Amino acid sequence: MDKLVIRGGRRLNGSVTASGSKNSSLPVIAATLLSGNGTFTLHRIPDLQDISTFTQLINHLGAETSFSDNTLTVSTGNVESLLTPYELVKKMRASIYVLGPLLARFGEAKVSLPGGCAFGPRPIDLHLMAMEKLGAKITIETGFITAKARNGKLQGATIDFPVSSVGATGNALMAAVLAEGKTTLSNAAAEPEIEALCRFLTAMGAHIKGTGTTELIVEGVTSLSAVEFTNVFDRIEAGTLLAAAAITGGTITVDGVENEQLKSVLKKLAHAGCTLTQAAGSITLASPEKLIPTDITAKPYPSFPTDMQAQWTALMTQAEGTSRITDKVYHERFNHIPELNRLGAHIEIKKNQAIVEGPRRLSGTKVMSTDLRASACLVLAGLVAEGVTEVLRVYHLDRGYEQIEMKLNTLGADITREKYKEFS
Ligand code: EPZ
Repeated sequence: MDKLVIRGGRRLNGSVTASGSKNSSLPVIAATLLSGNGTFTLHRIPDLQDISTFTQLINHLGAETSFSDNTLTVSTGNVESLLTPYELVKKMRASIYVLGPLLARFGEAKVSLPGGCAFGPRPIDLHLMAMEKLGAKITIETGFITAKARNGKLQGATIDFPVSSVGATGNALMAAVLAEGKTTLSNAAAEPEIEALCRFLTAMGAHIKGTGTTELIVEGVTSLSAVEFTNVFDRIEAGTLLAAAAITGGTITVDGVENEQLKSVLKKLAHAGCTLTQAAGSITLASPEKLIPTDITAKPYPSFPTDMQAQWTALMTQAEGTSRITDKVYHERFNHIPELNRLGAHIEIKKNQAIVEGPRRLSGTKVMSTDLRASACLVLAGLVAEGVTEVLRVYHLDRGYEQIEMKLNTLGADITREKYKEFS
């Protein structure tokens, strides 16, 4: 198993380029299942564990893929299996993204129920509700979801999401584009990753109105084509890199970004005292002498993203006062807090709110990753902690950050990746 060994106390300075987004790559790759006509060429796909897991999954279904230099080519003309096994879904709950496209193209699908995850239950009831609204018969037995479109073809429907769900919106879109007739999605997720999926589906020949908004209207078509597509940048990686500069008191430029998509994070960084200079496609952050405590409440886009909540908590351990962190998307997404407190932070959780007292001198020790963004938060804390911090189980980190230690070392950090054994 790998750990990251971080020697803290070094300011980050310089420039780095953001990778392509993990959370748009996954539905985009799933959407290739919608068309067996030709070969897809997908650019700016990050080289991540989750991407290789998803690629394995569509290979298992019969797709042909090849990946090099962040370009993934996919052809799904020979897809024959409609069964997604537990072993792959267990590794990554986003495997549920194959449900919509398989149902849309083949009229049926069989997908293993996903497990939970470290920060609480991750239900899929809204995914199944959307498929049923589109005319699928859903049965759940022996841990599998079996979905069958009545008369082999999905029918357009009105789908009103009671909760904004990125995954359910993506699945519903991928099912609706080949359904007969019109589908409206209300209270749809408007995250940039869904906006990118809408652009990809439209390029394939889908008819979608309202791209980028929470009200989407889809007119079903009879077929879609393979296309070339460039993926959107990873706004969470970019936000994490900016937070890394701020926690170390440095000045960095992140290139390859679309500032609008980071607006809520940039606003909070500015409130915390950072100086932000935006140019076309890049953001420069200069840190203040002292960080100002800044509360955040994570909510669906365009509010502050839940995937930046843990990183923000780490940053606020260095602010001059008390900050309050609330997550309205995942109320219990606080697994990183006990580990931050082991580094010397002083954070209490009261009624689903993390109260962070700062500034606190952190001192390095061994800490355990529990999920992707929690591990990113511990890396940030290690960058500012005195001495050596060892972040264990970085397989969590490798799921969503491409060459993160290389990027941070380019900016002046001192991080090495080492093998280690855990006591059995
Ligand atoms: C996506 O997960 C992201 N993952 C998550 O990022 C992100 O945290 C989340 O959206 C919220 O932005 C990918 O895109 C692969 P949701 P998803 O459906 O789609 C509830 C990361 O770190 N809900 O938007 O699973 C759910 O419990 C990961 O990259 C239902 O109740 O999230 C949550 O409270 C972690 N029923 C809320 O909706 C459902 O059927 C938002 O979840 C589905 C969701």
